[in-house]
Amino acid sequence: MPLLDNHIAVVTGAGSGIGRAIAAGYAKEGARVVLLDVNGEAAAAAAKEIRAAGGRAESFALDVTKRGDCVAMAKQVAAEVGPVTILVNNAGIARRNGMLGADDAVINDWEDIISINLTGVFNVTHAFLAPLRANRGRIVNIGSIQSFVHLRTPSSPAYTASKHGVLGFTKALAAELGKDGVRVNAIGPGFIETPLNERVRASNPDLVKVFMDHTPLGRPGKPEDIVGPAIFLASDLSAYVSGSIVMVDGGYRTI
Ligand code: NAI
Repeated sequence: MPLLDNHIAVVTGAGSGIGRAIAAGYAKEGARVVLLDVNGEAAAAAAKEIRAAGGRAESFALDVTKRGDCVAMAKQVAAEVGPVTILVNNAGIARRNGMLGADDAVINDWEDIISINLTGVFNVTHAFLAPLRANRGRIVNIGSIQSFVHLRTPSSPAYTASKHGVLGFTKALAAELGKDGVRVNAIGPGFIETPLNERVRASNPDLVKVFMDHTPLGRPGKPEDIVGPAIFLASDLSAYVSGSIVMVDGGYRTI
């Protein structure tokens, strides 16, 4: 039997990369998937692909930074799709300006990154809390290696702060929602080849090498590498797992 039969799964940032792969993977496991993305066209294309493969998928445009829109979306999904039992908070952006960069860039990065990567996770979770609590739901937040460390490669302090925040939020929610049977976990991807880092990969092979020198498995990850752990955390296979982060990083933190 498919692992996610009878589930309704919302995935944010599902129009691209990791979110898109998770949505497709959940649909293959029997879930009805709701793909949300600020890029509504990309989410619609991903949903169409899932339906063409025989899965069940709807898509809507949503900017996770807009709290009122998140609340309205939760109402719309409840009315048009049904009670959500799985939420994947995946939408995120990355930038690489350090603290010593130009003021404008640093301040802009802080505001954008914290509002999407951290406040966005809060907004969507808060909006969908009622069905998740009523249905012993599962929340999967996408963290990072940077939930633990800052990188030697150029990276923004806001990104590191946001991903540490995602892990802290995961633990806080796991502690508070456990009594409702809601499990809350995170995934910490390593260097995964997606549009997020396409430009860096094309323009800065040295940076990629720094990652690979730190990755025992010796290759960058693919979005599909995140899918198995994401299914595990959303399914009953992980019935006694909560407040954890599963690192999917090729072993990055071992060396
Ligand atoms: P991506 O750029 O391929 O996809 C991100 C998606 O989020 C895009 O479709 C984008 O439109 C959407 N998005 C951006 N802002 C949004 C907003 N305000 N509201 C709704 N949707 C929004 O990126 P990727 O690599 O798939 O990243 C997904 C998550 O994984 C992010 O949280 C990222 O920080 C995290 N991550 C990625 C790693 C990597 O190496 N690619 C490593 C560690 C974590």
